[in-house]
Amino acid sequence: MRHLIDINSLDQGVPRKLLQTAKFYKSSGRGLLEGAPLLGRTLAMIFEKPSTRTRISFEVAMTELGGSAIYLDAKSMQMGRGETIADTAKVLGRYLDGIMIRASRHETLLEMANHSEIPVINGLTDISHPCQILADIMTFEEKLGDIENKIISWVGDGNNMANSWIHASKIFNFKLRLACPSLRLPNKNIINWAKENGAEIEILDDPIEACSDSNAILTDTWVSMGDEKIINPEEIFNNFRVSDKLFEVASNDAIFMHCLPAHRGQEVTSEIIDGPKSVVWDEAENRLHIQKAILSWAIADKLI
Ligand code: CP
Ligand code: NVA
Repeated sequence: MRHLIDINSLDQGVPRKLLQTAKFYKSSGRGLLEGAPLLGRTLAMIFEKPSTRTRISFEVAMTELGGSAIYLDAKSMQMGRGETIADTAKVLGRYLDGIMIRASRHETLLEMANHSEIPVINGLTDISHPCQILADIMTFEEKLGDIENKIISWVGDGNNMANSWIHASKIFNFKLRLACPSLRLPNKNIINWAKENGAEIEILDDPIEACSDSNAILTDTWVSMGDEKIINPEEIFNNFRVSDKLFEVASNDAIFMHCLPAHRGQEVTSEIIDGPKSVVWDEAENRLHIQKAILSWAIADKLI
């Protein structure tokens, strides 16, 4: 079954082929793709949390591949009043060709995938965000070439995005340095997995050390969806703001990346996110091209 749970759960070679396929789709331009590879196919998009980019890019991707997408707010489904995930998965498989789910708990995604007879795609959980990472790597390579052996620096919360960057460091062979407050480190199991598999990752507490000679500086919101229990983010993260200071020690051509939505003045200054080093709008656009690649692989077993 071609589920996308995380990039490290894909068969070897598939993540790179997804990037190549996305590049092809990007070069094909907008509008209905010739041959409409997903003609007559339908994707369900289940959301337990809000979304702008993920929802829209998946929906437009289905349309441009010739299929269609149904937006489902989890609260408005019977799932929201107790129908089991297993029963929901079995029923959806009788109507649809794929399920994309944004789940509050990673376990919900896993359970959906375990009981589903159609592909299930991770549209973000509390643990990871693989679709975003693929779009980010595509964007990095458009700007600075092959990511292999490059130095990538994460500054801020050790959240779902940080975890997915750790997965990516092993799959795409780059050096990853993460500067996170000690109270907000990335997931322990994922760090252990990366270290056991020979990934070049370092967990630091000094953003300057993490960013020296770096090719890309990345961050994300201090308070992720579902993490609203963090009461004093300013106190915890005050030293973990991306500003000119970090770019002064980075490589001259270093870029700034952020999955969005962003909070100017918190995790990043406006000068950086709205300045010449920022590639955030390309990252957002590339979500569309990557979703097309993921969907044509998952639903039609087509990769370029
Ligand atoms: N980056 C991202 O996943 O954005 P949304 O929450 O808007 O989908
Ligand atoms: N870490 C953020 C990413 C949003 C796309 C969150 O989970 O809210």
